[in-house]
Amino acid sequence: MKTPHRLRASVLALALGGLGLACDTEEAFPNVDELDQLRSLHTQTRQPPKDPTNRVDGVARAEQLGDLLFHDAGLSRCGTVSCQSCHGGEGRTVDTALAEGCDGKRTLRNPPTVLNAAYNRWFMWDGRADRLWSQAILPLLNPDEMNSDAQVVAARLQSVESYRTEYQALFGREPAAESGDVLLANVGKVLAAYQRTLVKVDAPFDEDVRRFLAAVDAGTAEEDPAYLGLKTFVRKGQCIVCHKGPSLSDDLFHNIGVEDTGPGSGGQWASLEGLLGWSFNAEGRYSDAPSGSDALRLRALRTQAKQLELEGAFRTPSLRNVALTAPYMHTGAQATLEEVIDFYNEGGDAAGTFVGQKTETLVPLELTDAEKRALVDLLKSMTGRED
Ligand code: HEC
Ligand code: HEC
Repeated sequence: MKTPHRLRASVLALALGGLGLACDTEEAFPNVDELDQLRSLHTQTRQPPKDPTNRVDGVARAEQLGDLLFHDAGLSRCGTVSCQSCHGGEGRTVDTALAEGCDGKRTLRNPPTVLNAAYNRWFMWDGRADRLWSQAILPLLNPDEMNSDAQVVAARLQSVESYRTEYQALFGREPAAESGDVLLANVGKVLAAYQRTLVKVDAPFDEDVRRFLAAVDAGTAEEDPAYLGLKTFVRKGQCIVCHKGPSLSDDLFHNIGVEDTGPGSGGQWASLEGLLGWSFNAEGRYSDAPSGSDALRLRALRTQAKQLELEGAFRTPSLRNVALTAPYMHTGAQATLEEVIDFYNEGGDAAGTFVGQKTETLVPLELTDAEKRALVDLLKSMTGRED
């Protein structure tokens, strides 16, 4: 970790004070490192990276079938729950902390948005899926969500003529003739092809960053309307340490001390073995490019030192469209962005209210009211425009 800026500034103030010089204690924003961080935030490309493990990724026919299946409650055993039930609405999630699946059952965690999901490196709050297509198999089979299985899914695909013919055109067989696991993988691939089209980038935030960078070049950064928000995001709040790059996420997992001691509180550490042994992972036999997986990297995480880091650690979510996806965090316990900022300002919840150890960079921030407001406004500016 680098020296906190506050400390550096006060050391500087002391040194200059000792020389009897009057000085403004604060280093001008942005310094060279901060400028690099800001430059890395430029607009997300409008095309998510292609997924070589999914051979129907980018195939128009698969996108259309995926759209229909995403909205079809007939894939659930109860017949009333579709992907859309929990990923509908403008923010493509629900506005409650947990969502309701078959027979009134509740999900373990807050549903993340499916908008821009195709840019993610890992899926689910704990990263227990390593591809968008394999992720889709989890809600299908989850007893608290769609409570389905390969038989229910095959029967549904077989019984609707357009599903049957489209499936056959894509995969060369009728759904009923397919083995159960292959069918589930293929349905996941079709659903992923559709979700890859759910892109919402290009926000006022991107324009603000571009304009701010031009103002830095022109020497007028301090007069720019985005100055306080960006400065707090980058410097005092240290948000950019984790919410970085075009996705505003480092694609990693951190324990930031969100209150949770329930069955879903273990984070990435609790799901690592499961992912490595899962037949639907990116190196498994249903993957169309098994060599492209990150399994080696994942295996390397299974050490005691890593356990300390990964227990209770959840994926850094992208902040794009965050104003549309309340409530927040993996528990959905924080109702507003103002509450999220208060949470960070206090340095996370108290030890004992969550599993594992909070990352040491999460410390009380001592934000002023103006800084808090500027951060909330900045987060609100991250909502992408409609296509
Ligand atoms: C009953 C509600 C429910 C249903 C139905 C549901 N989901 Fe979800 N979805 C969730 C929850 C909750 C999570 C987060 C679970 C976790 O992290 O443990 C999630 C996570 C996801 C994610 C991961 C997003 C990310 O950023 O990690 C994707 C993608 C997704 N769902 C797509 C789907 C698809 C496709 C379907 C239909 C096959 C579906 N969901 C059905 C509730 C639901
Ligand atoms: C150490 C890495 C780290 C830092 C620093 C950090 N975050 Fe986060 N952020 C995360 C993680 C991890 C989560 C999800 C935690 C969870 O649900 O348990 C998160 C969640 C969020 C969410 C909720 C998003 C959602 O969809 O639920 C917002 C908003 C957010 N962070 C904004 C910020 C802001 C603003 C700052 C700076 C004041 C900041 N973060 C600093 C890692 C970080």
